Amino acid sequence: MMSGAARFAQCGTPEQLEVLHDVEGDVAAEMQAHTERRKLWFPNDLIPADAEQTAEAEAEIARMRDAARGLPDTVRVAVALNLLTEEGLPHFHRLISTHLGNSRPWAAWNRLWTAEEDRHGCLLRDYVRDARLFDMGALERLQFQYIEAGFEPEWEQDPYRLLAYTSLQEKATQVSHANTGRLCASIEPMAQRVFAHIAGDESRHYQFYRAVFGAILKRDPERALNSLLKVMLGFAMPGHAISGYDDMSEVVRRAGIFCARQYRKIVDELLDFWQIGNLGSLSATARELQDKIMKVPARLARMADYQDAKAARRTFGFDFIYNRAITA
Ligand SMILES: [Fe+2]
Ligand SMILES: [Fe+2]
Repeated sequence: MMSGAARFAQCGTPEQLEVLHDVEGDVAAEMQAHTERRKLWFPNDLIPADAEQTAEAEAEIARMRDAARGLPDTVRVAVALNLLTEEGLPHFHRLISTHLGNSRPWAAWNRLWTAEEDRHGCLLRDYVRDARLFDMGALERLQFQYIEAGFEPEWEQDPYRLLAYTSLQEKATQVSHANTGRLCASIEPMAQRVFAHIAGDESRHYQFYRAVFGAILKRDPERALNSLLKVMLGFAMPGHAISGYDDMSEVVRRAGIFCARQYRKIVDELLDFWQIGNLGSLSATARELQDKIMKVPARLARMADYQDAKAARRTFGFDFIYNRAITA
């Protein structure tokens, strides 16, 4: 059994490899459910760029570009950060591959997920290019630098941490895309459509990852709780290697697009979904971890209060929007 399990995953303790092998049926079933839930769309469905383009499509793009001039710079910063986060896809494909291995159904999920995620970066890039949102060269340099810098979370080869992180992160990106879209809606409706399509995908990915992590939690509660606690306390969005990331995320925080309060809501929702507070038959160590995890929301609330209290109004500048001053 153990040698069979070892074929399926490249990271993890022997016990973890066995559990990963054990939940393969759940992974396959969740993948099936995911494929049935999804409505596949393509960037060209929203922002067409065909050789034989209709006059209406061209007029729509001209309208979009005209309306996009009215988008405030705070929203542009959020769009840039969302785009850069999506373009970090090579890092995530690699992390999933190295943590979950190259055998079915994990590898099949990684490919399906990557194919879906790839459309997000494509669509956002098509949008910002056709709507003329940025100093595009400056944005491209940031993207290049982010891909080159890499994303190396300290997961210590723990596949459970990858699954806990992706559960949180898919929901966090859903919230970030949906809120960015909402701020665009009354000014430039295509931006809202773009973000709503992406947020819908993130929501379905979130459902997949939380279900798979839930299956692991049932089989291996102590190790799963240990991984979950570490990830929840150290959670950071993936783009922190992007230069200027702290200022970008601070603008996004101040605009109410994504902040510690929203992160706390995500944590609450997941603790409730996994019924962490009600897990029974736990070892003494697992009970301790359970207690610590149940205290995370209060800790996040204190952190949000602290961030709000210390945030004095200040001015930000980003070269991808020509260093225009943003005061927030
Ligand atoms: Fe995405
Ligand atoms: Fe996603």
